[in-house]
Amino acid sequence: MSDSASIESRHQDCLAKLRTRGQEHVLRWWDDLGPAEREHLLAEIESIPWEILDGLIRSHVLIRPDHAVPRDLSPPTVYKQPPAPEQRALYDEAARLGRDLIRTGKVAALTVAGGQGTRLGFDGPKGALVVTPVGGKTLFELFAETIKAARHRYDSPIPWYIMTSPANHEQTVEYLKSRDFFGLPETEVILFRQGMLPAFDFQGRLLLAERHRLALTPDGHGGSLKALVASGALSDMRKRGIEIITYFQVDNPLVKPFDPLFIGLHAKTGSEMSTKVTAKADDLERVGNVCVHNGKVVVIEYSDFPDELAHARNQDGSRKFNAGNLAIHLLSVDFVDRVVARSFQMPFRRADKAVACVDEVGSLTKPTAPNAVKLEAFIFDALPLAANPLLLEVDRAEEFSPVKNATGVDSLESSKRDQITRACCWLESAGVTVPRKPDGRPDVIVTISPSFALDAEDVRARRDRLPTLRPGDSVCIE
Ligand code: UD1
Repeated sequence: MSDSASIESRHQDCLAKLRTRGQEHVLRWWDDLGPAEREHLLAEIESIPWEILDGLIRSHVLIRPDHAVPRDLSPPTVYKQPPAPEQRALYDEAARLGRDLIRTGKVAALTVAGGQGTRLGFDGPKGALVVTPVGGKTLFELFAETIKAARHRYDSPIPWYIMTSPANHEQTVEYLKSRDFFGLPETEVILFRQGMLPAFDFQGRLLLAERHRLALTPDGHGGSLKALVASGALSDMRKRGIEIITYFQVDNPLVKPFDPLFIGLHAKTGSEMSTKVTAKADDLERVGNVCVHNGKVVVIEYSDFPDELAHARNQDGSRKFNAGNLAIHLLSVDFVDRVVARSFQMPFRRADKAVACVDEVGSLTKPTAPNAVKLEAFIFDALPLAANPLLLEVDRAEEFSPVKNATGVDSLESSKRDQITRACCWLESAGVTVPRKPDGRPDVIVTISPSFALDAEDVRARRDRLPTLRPGDSVCIE
């Protein structure tokens, strides 16, 4: 068949599939498109997963899904720190096992970095955002240094998988190349793209971003499971002997992905998916609430969590639902395989967004109010499918201060402040005098680079290399 005949037959096939769904409007500019544009549009239409979307349009787009939050939620069982006396031996053994698993090359890192970063307003891959208080280090740089330091500490190769989206993949690759992968071997930094799904208007009609391009949006971090398999990243892990994936979001500069206790407890208790939680900052903190429903661990987003549960108290006055989801998980490679191989479809959530699109006459409109439905899967919806899910409580000040918003809570400013607080605490534990303002806040700006220390213990071990701090100093220790 000649090229033009084959494109025409693909055009007819697409048209037929679209017509049965009342979606043929996406081909309305066909006659005006050039050959490359036609090819592009057909490829996008051919990759629409109608087997999933036909149902979702009915259940999530045309109507708002009945997303009733279960009433019978209870607080989960959490491994606390420090451990109770009777747990001490278990924790010690777990930490040893965790170190062994890292040392023997069984652990790989996975950063999910496919989000659009709309709340932050940063134009570029979020990982390329400079986040340290001093030293000009970006999120990717901090993670790369953490991996490098862990490779050194455990004398083991630790591959780093990064999930991007088609919208930021090239920019991410370019950025990492331009920084020479921060000294990590290029073959051990593996980037893969997550899936995209079309956006719909409120009548369930596909939207076009251009006359020859569908409006597509990333399918959520829950899409990482499918993308790990589809991209070949999971089989690459198997080839390298990886058994456990340490999963974290691109937005948290304080993350400690190589936590021997967490990894050891995960392995020792036969957990397939584990999650770090922290005591919530307040009843309505904008984090997911980790709960139990029908014997399964579930996460209920703050936006869905009923007020009476958010404010509920135990008899001693403490908060009843107090396990905030840090989005730091461990996933067993076998578990990811099982979930994807059984073609379990992660549940989709609906989000109403303002999506730029071409209107009836082909002009681009950029709405300021939501005009479209976006469908996303969330990674934590895999928790109810996992055997023995384990939850470990950690100290927020040590591990969590994400950069999500331009200002206020979870912003660059609040994260820098928390990075300084943690660094000063590590320095004081090593005997350094930290100058403080009358109100107790540190009177220094300090970054401790992960290549210098992964934790307070490392800082203490390098006592002889620590600077003396004077009020107003600005120091990056590396
Ligand atoms: C998330 C969790 C919340 C948790 C909080 C901790 C959800 C819905 N909620 O909130 O329970 O308490 O983190 O910080 O996840 N991403 C992709 N691809 C996508 C969408 C997102 O890779 O298609 C990545 C982003 O790059 C980012 C992360 O996922 O690293 C978080 O996504 P976001 O939608 O911003 O979730 P949060 O509201 O931050």
